[in-house]
Amino acid sequence: MHHIERLLRATDPELVAHGERTGRLSADIAGIMGLSTEQLALLLQAGLFHDAGKIFISREILDKPGPLDKAEWEELRHHPMMGYQLVRDSVPDLVARIVLTHHERFDGTGYPNALPSSKVPIEARILQVADAFDAITSNRPYQPALPVAYALNELVRCSGTQFDPAVVEATLALAGHLGWAAEVAV
Ligand SMILES: [Fe+2]
Repeated sequence: MHHIERLLRATDPELVAHGERTGRLSADIAGIMGLSTEQLALLLQAGLFHDAGKIFISREILDKPGPLDKAEWEELRHHPMMGYQLVRDSVPDLVARIVLTHHERFDGTGYPNALPSSKVPIEARILQVADAFDAITSNRPYQPALPVAYALNELVRCSGTQFDPAVVEATLALAGHLGWAAEVAV
């Protein structure tokens, strides 16, 4: 096992579970989009490590049942850079880059660097969608898990602003392939 995975498992098992689900969904979306087997493998690792920087964020913030205040939000926003610094010497460059850019947005207003989408690897734009989908459909401190249909609607609502429209389209196609469509129709 990679030493960072061992560290994460010892520190925050739920972070690892979310990371594994995000990695698997990212790889499935990437498969639909025709990315290579190697890219799919890198996405599995990037999923696992994307929130690694959260091990440096206080538990009070991560577990807060309500909205974060300005200072708490400021602290949370450091996690992509902290994760990048944690993993960059021991993972492929692309994985480190995905960890750093997983909260950038398609419209260039994300963090930490407000990068235009042309500067964000396609693998990171895929992981952003998978990350959001898994977060919405999982129990969170401030909100219980919501239905798949709600999550897919949310992806569509934020397509072109937060998310790459091509990735949202591929995710909807995947949902159809996997039989999530029945839930969407509800
Ligand atoms: Fe994150």
